[in-house]
Amino acid sequence: MGFDKLVFGKKDVQEIINEYGSPVYVYDEEILRKRCQEMKNLLKYPHFRVNYSAKANTNVELLKIVCSEGLDVDGMSPGEMYLEMKAGFTPDRITFIGNNVSRQELQFAVDNDILVSVDSLSQLKLLGEINQGGSVCLRINPGIGAGHHDKVVTGGKKAKFGIAMEDLPIAQDIAASYAMTISGLNQHIGSLFLEPDAYVAAAAAILGLAADIPSIDMVDLGGGFGIPYRHGIEGRLDLADLGNKLDNLINAWVAAHRPITIRIEPGRYIAAECGALLGTVTAVKENYNTFFVGTDIGFNTLVRPVMYDSYHEISVVPGQDRPYKEYSKPVYVVGQICESGDILAHDRTLPCCREGDALIVHDAGAYGFAMASTYNSRPLPAEVLLEKDGGIRLIRKAQTLEDLWRD
Ligand code: LLP
Repeated sequence: MGFDKLVFGKKDVQEIINEYGSPVYVYDEEILRKRCQEMKNLLKYPHFRVNYSAKANTNVELLKIVCSEGLDVDGMSPGEMYLEMKAGFTPDRITFIGNNVSRQELQFAVDNDILVSVDSLSQLKLLGEINQGGSVCLRINPGIGAGHHDKVVTGGKKAKFGIAMEDLPIAQDIAASYAMTISGLNQHIGSLFLEPDAYVAAAAAILGLAADIPSIDMVDLGGGFGIPYRHGIEGRLDLADLGNKLDNLINAWVAAHRPITIRIEPGRYIAAECGALLGTVTAVKENYNTFFVGTDIGFNTLVRPVMYDSYHEISVVPGQDRPYKEYSKPVYVVGQICESGDILAHDRTLPCCREGDALIVHDAGAYGFAMASTYNSRPLPAEVLLEKDGGIRLIRKAQTLEDLWRD
């Protein structure tokens, strides 16, 4: 182990902080493009499309990059769909995956010619009222779920999402009563898998359902593709193995039934690893035998560790040259929010920190800025993009105090 000397293109960490403030999100364009391409190449099956699940990160400059890589996109709200169109996605490349959304939100999608996926019989009726004769996609809850934390398991008997498989015939009747065509089925059983089998089993289940509904020309298998947050400990998801298993499944299905478009909807896999969150050590102390590294990275800026007990690697970049020395025991890295649960990392082996050192929180591109808040009335941080030529470009200004009272 040693101090991290990480440089982002032409600038080092401290220069970026000096220029754009602390904390600040930095995204690497090259990594983002690479992850898009990996997902696009997951299957050999020719009618395969990737929907980037933009909830992971909706910065418009990142969306533009994803758009230029030829991916499609999911929207969960009018806000997401609006940003996606701003970034250049045409409505035929967007799917609105609604969950308990209002009539007005459905109307927004219908007015913009965006395909809607509904996830309850009640929402199907609502959509039928405003889009009689149109197409609809049904989100199925296959009755099984998976995920890195209870809060991200989105399939299963206790999850709020999707239409139960046994209700599919009722959904078909409702759609028929509004002359709507069920053109697609989708599901998402949960987030962050690193082993392929549960995903492949769920894919087989949804394809089984699609077999009996001839109007379906698209099946969306969902997202959840994991990344190794624990560097050197967790292995990467084996995309070749997953892709082969899915290709075999899909080819057999197509041979037995009909050609169909297959979609996936990864969010984290595309956006997580291109992003790092830079911050600053603001205080250090030892209280009752526990070491605390106090930082300006509270859960207002990155909520994942607090919300899901998620792990992010942290590197320390010393403010001034000094010999490397580690704390004698694991430490807590904490933020500046007035809550005792504001813990970015616990039980970490770290080099001894000093005020003014910079920190790099890795793999923060997905569900980082997207879930940030102004809690404790702290303005949102800036976001910058490391471009392919090594230059750094501001892609969202930090909020100012004035933004906190704008009416
Ligand atoms: N599709 C649907 C319908 C979803 O609900 C989600 C995520 C995705 C796709 C993309 O999932 P991904 O590939 O990113 O795992 N905030 C949590 C993750 C919540 C995911 C919710 N749904 C986190 O920070 O881990």
